[in-house]
Amino acid sequence: MRSVTQLALVAGAAAQVFEAPFALHRGDILDHPLPSVSKRNTFEPCAEVSQLWAAQVAQLSRPGAAPAQIRVPAKRAYECLLSVPVDSAGDLKEIDELKAYLQYQSTLPWLKAGVKGQIEPLDIIANLDIIADGIKKKSYKSDYDVQLSIRQLLDKAGDFHLQYIPDITNVFQFARPTGVLVSISTDGLALPKIYLFSDLPKTATGNIAASAITKINGQNATEVLQKLSEGTKYHDADTRYNTVFPNPALDALGTDSGGLSYAHYVYAGPTTTFTFENGTEKTIDNIAVIPSIFDFKQVSDGASFFKAFCSGPQAVLKPSGSGTPSATPKATSTQRPSAVATPTSLGLPGYPTPQFLQSSKKVSGYYLGDSYKDTAVLAIPAFSPSSIDSKYPDSTTGGFIETQALLQKFFADAVKAGKKKLVIDLRGNGGGTIDMGFELFKQLFPTIEPYGAARYRAHEAFHYYSALVADVALEGDDKDGKIGMDWDDADYGIQSTFLWSNILDKNLQKYKSYKDYYGPQTINGDSFTSLRRYNFSNNLGGHTLSASLTGYNQFKNIKTQPFQSDDIVIIQDGFCGSTCAIFAELMRVQGKVQTVAIGGRPQNAPMQGVGGSKGSQRLGMDALYQFAERTIKIAEALDGIAVANKLNQTAVGKIYNAEQIFVRTTPPPTGSLILGAVNSLNNQRMNDTTDTPLEFQYEAADCRLFYTTATYLDPVNMWKAVWEAKWGKGKCVPGSTGDKTAIGVLENKSTFGSKSGNAQQTNADGQPIESTGAASPISVSSVVATFAAMAAFVMMI
Ligand SMILES: *[C@@H]1O[C@H](CO)[C@@H](O)[C@H](O)[C@H]1NC(C)=O
Ligand SMILES: *[C@@H]1O[C@H](CO)[C@@H](O)[C@H](O)[C@H]1NC(C)=O
Ligand SMILES: *[C@@H]1O[C@H](CO)[C@@H](O)[C@H](O)[C@H]1NC(C)=O
Ligand SMILES: *[C@@H]1O[C@H](CO)[C@@H](O)[C@H](O)[C@H]1NC(C)=O
Ligand SMILES: *[C@@H]1O[C@H](CO)[C@@H](O)[C@H](O)[C@H]1NC(C)=O
Ligand SMILES: *[C@@H]1O[C@H](CO)[C@@H](O)[C@H](O)[C@H]1NC(C)=O
Repeated sequence: MRSVTQLALVAGAAAQVFEAPFALHRGDILDHPLPSVSKRNTFEPCAEVSQLWAAQVAQLSRPGAAPAQIRVPAKRAYECLLSVPVDSAGDLKEIDELKAYLQYQSTLPWLKAGVKGQIEPLDIIANLDIIADGIKKKSYKSDYDVQLSIRQLLDKAGDFHLQYIPDITNVFQFARPTGVLVSISTDGLALPKIYLFSDLPKTATGNIAASAITKINGQNATEVLQKLSEGTKYHDADTRYNTVFPNPALDALGTDSGGLSYAHYVYAGPTTTFTFENGTEKTIDNIAVIPSIFDFKQVSDGASFFKAFCSGPQAVLKPSGSGTPSATPKATSTQRPSAVATPTSLGLPGYPTPQFLQSSKKVSGYYLGDSYKDTAVLAIPAFSPSSIDSKYPDSTTGGFIETQALLQKFFADAVKAGKKKLVIDLRGNGGGTIDMGFELFKQLFPTIEPYGAARYRAHEAFHYYSALVADVALEGDDKDGKIGMDWDDADYGIQSTFLWSNILDKNLQKYKSYKDYYGPQTINGDSFTSLRRYNFSNNLGGHTLSASLTGYNQFKNIKTQPFQSDDIVIIQDGFCGSTCAIFAELMRVQGKVQTVAIGGRPQNAPMQGVGGSKGSQRLGMDALYQFAERTIKIAEALDGIAVANKLNQTAVGKIYNAEQIFVRTTPPPTGSLILGAVNSLNNQRMNDTTDTPLEFQYEAADCRLFYTTATYLDPVNMWKAVWEAKWGKGKCVPGSTGDKTAIGVLENKSTFGSKSGNAQQTNADGQPIESTGAASPISVSSVVATFAAMAAFVMMI
């Protein structure tokens, strides 16, 4: 049977955005001319792509050839995809199997109902049946259309934990090679306009002199970008709008995939035409990048394309395969093009000298200068710090322990140095290690017990697996070797949170019985397990057995709160999700800390700070397969073959015996078997009698600001602008404060900050008054380094 040798992160510990293999980052697309075929005999798009591929491979393998990547005209790639015949039998089997795995998706009934004005109703299972019907009725012209429909269906859920990436959607990465865009306001309050990134001024002190983009392909530019962003897996429209522009925080880490303006598996036309306010037009050829792993040698038409790339893992090249270029859009996140000269060893490019910098640069701390000397800043673009220190059993544990110590010291030093205020910049943060979110909260509020209660969807396969783990625990150790399989591990076995007696109920009490833990309870017409909370004193289900959170075990005597709630402010841009959403919920509901949201659609309205998945656990489909495998194998060992055979007839067997989804995700060397995942845990709010998962609750930030050139190009300016809005003379975007869901309003029935000058400005009809643009008094620091880094990007693309 298959075996999952290396799971990147243990199930209990991971909650973060998953990046598809070959996702393009800014700076990945090199500037060389788009090839074309000199002579076209008969028009066979895949043959033409293959020919273009071969010519480039030949050229690139010449000694001394410049690093480059294989690219073809977007239209040709798209036509090739459309010529791939539908594999009706295989696709129907795939959909059937996928439905079995998706039983683990914890939000199905809420997605189905939607939230008025916020989340469109989406019945995932019914839609898969509709796709299957379409296949039976032969309404799909190509296999690409089928697989694209499946991938887009799941992405439409706006939950980046929910994902399934069919092979055929991964062969070409569509991109617009130049013409990266930004959305910039003159003063942070006036509605922003769209500009070319390359039209940004050379320093953060400058204003954009260039002409704004009013139309894209002849249509309203804002609306086109909103439409393109619909395919990005966020549940909030302002967040989705932010994804089409480079994210400065992620750009500094080298992991930004925005700025290319659309989900790269979706074809967005042969060209892009911008119309500027001054009337000028500029047209760019869209391209498709072919990652070097894909070998087109045998491809001459749609059918041979299918044979090469859609029939299982054996079809793709080994990454070290000879004769293919080595420079490719890479899945690793830390590399940046070498032309970006900023010495990263000094810190994040464009950021000031840090007080501390975690070794993977995911967490860093700063002190502000000038008239903001009483303020410390934490920049956390991801909750996934890793460490290469060999002291630790793995890089995740090492990263946790390293970061915990750095944060403890940073807060202690800050208090000692008389810092009174803290700005936490979570821009770009798509989550990470679950414990990291709880840890930061505990360091800030050591006397508060974090809530973080959650539920699984209760269904047949999960029930048998949960019951099996309970049986194994009763069996005790495996001295006689009867169980055989890995049964005592911290990922899925009896040391994990999948054993009911390892976790606690919503009141932090032990469950009385398995039934008390598992339920199921009927909520919103579906079945769920009881609310569950972590027992942070036993370390189970977290990063590791070898580290404790602040406030527990060896750290239980830490009781000093470094900052008061009202002296903390959080910056978010909607990317926040997963572990970041867990942290944001704790800070908002239990810490009573306010948030400023950045960017979004050009409108005078509130904005949510958390637009990513608010679920509190992502389980890869590999893990779901493993659950099924263990259930059947261990049941056989404990209870005999008859029981195992019976389980094989249930939903467990459906998951265990799946074949086609393994074939059709043809995972490139990512260490996984199936490129897919579900959101497995619904995060719930304390005292919420409606039992609505957080993702389906609208939560406005307390204030909103748009980017200016100054705050876009220099994070220090961003921090100062937010400081001014919260504690100083700054204002928020008109109409953005005072929403009834903002924590400041819920707590104090007032608007953002404590000043009357910041109350929502409305006219006699209660309509927000357009800002006249009184800029925040930001003192602009030197940004030469920042801009040098950004400019290097511009030259690259
Ligand atoms: C119009 O604006 C664009 C973008 O700033 C610029 O590239 C172009 O040169 C301008 N055209 C004219 C005629 O000034
Ligand atoms: C473009 O669309 C946006 C959003 O619908 C709208 O607010 C704006 O007025 C439109 N611009 C023009 C020039 O029509
Ligand atoms: C939590 O775990 C610790 C350590 O294993 C244990 O001593 C404690 O009893 C547990 N808490 C509850 C309420 O069961
Ligand atoms: C409510 O007001 C008090 C007193 O001004 C302040 O200390 C507290 O932080 C405020 N809470 C929120 C959530 O704004
Ligand atoms: C389990 O079920 C699958 C498919 O239904 C079947 O092919 C397989 O032989 C069964 N295995 C056992 C051990 O019953
Ligand atoms: C939830 O209810 C309990 C008991 O009434 C209360 O102590 C707690 O503060 C409430 N929590 C929130 C977030 O409202």
